[in-house]
Amino acid sequence: MTTSFLVVGALACAALVAQRRPHAGVPRLDRAARRQDHVAQRPPRAHHRRDHSPVPTPRRERHVTRRPVDEEAIGVTRRSFLNRALLAGTGVGVAAFASAALGFLWPAPANGFGSKITIGSTADEAAAFATKQPFYNAAAKTYIVAYPKADLDKAEQVPAYAPPILAGMEAGYVALYQTCPHLGCRVPWCQSSRWFECPCHGSKYNAVGEKQGGPAPRGMDRFVFTLSGSDIVVDTGNLVLGPPVGTDTSDQSPAGPPCV
Ligand code: FES
Repeated sequence: MTTSFLVVGALACAALVAQRRPHAGVPRLDRAARRQDHVAQRPPRAHHRRDHSPVPTPRRERHVTRRPVDEEAIGVTRRSFLNRALLAGTGVGVAAFASAALGFLWPAPANGFGSKITIGSTADEAAAFATKQPFYNAAAKTYIVAYPKADLDKAEQVPAYAPPILAGMEAGYVALYQTCPHLGCRVPWCQSSRWFECPCHGSKYNAVGEKQGGPAPRGMDRFVFTLSGSDIVVDTGNLVLGPPVGTDTSDQSPAGPPCV
């Protein structure tokens, strides 16, 4: 009985030991076989690859360098805006100067202001004078007024009345430019005083354009004209400066209250 208990106990212990060893029952490899297994399990090296392709590199976290944004490339900076504005301003100035120079040098139109303009007949002037007004022509920017023959002697004593102007006065007319010699306003006729009176700064001129008051530096400027038959042809390209301050050949007082 005791012997059989010992045999059963020995068999149980052997079974337990066999269960705990995983390779139990597997024959052990010799040294050469284990070495072959170890070499086969290693990852291949680059010079061992038969197709000579590069060995894939493991993925790594790449370091990204941030470069500053080029504002010139993506938009307009303040400096470039100012440069462009300066360039544009200079261009506009040059263009304005060029157009003004061209306008100055351009030949006068064949039949506009700056050329010879037939403004009417002597009968037209006579009709205007009958109403005690000058004859006005807008295209020529000119007033035609009568010059009294009785005052010609005094006019001949005024050096400022050059021969072409004096010739017109001898024919009985003066062709006055409508623009005030002070600052360029258009000078209207004042029917009540029968003078020319400038509304801008109050310069006043008698009926033949001689200055009587105000800040203007001289009398009204005038054009040379010719008579072609009964027509009056004003050369609006031939402007003569008005007589100096103090010239008063027609001795004409205001006929009534002033307009200015
Ligand atoms: S513009 Fe005529 S008085 Fe000044």
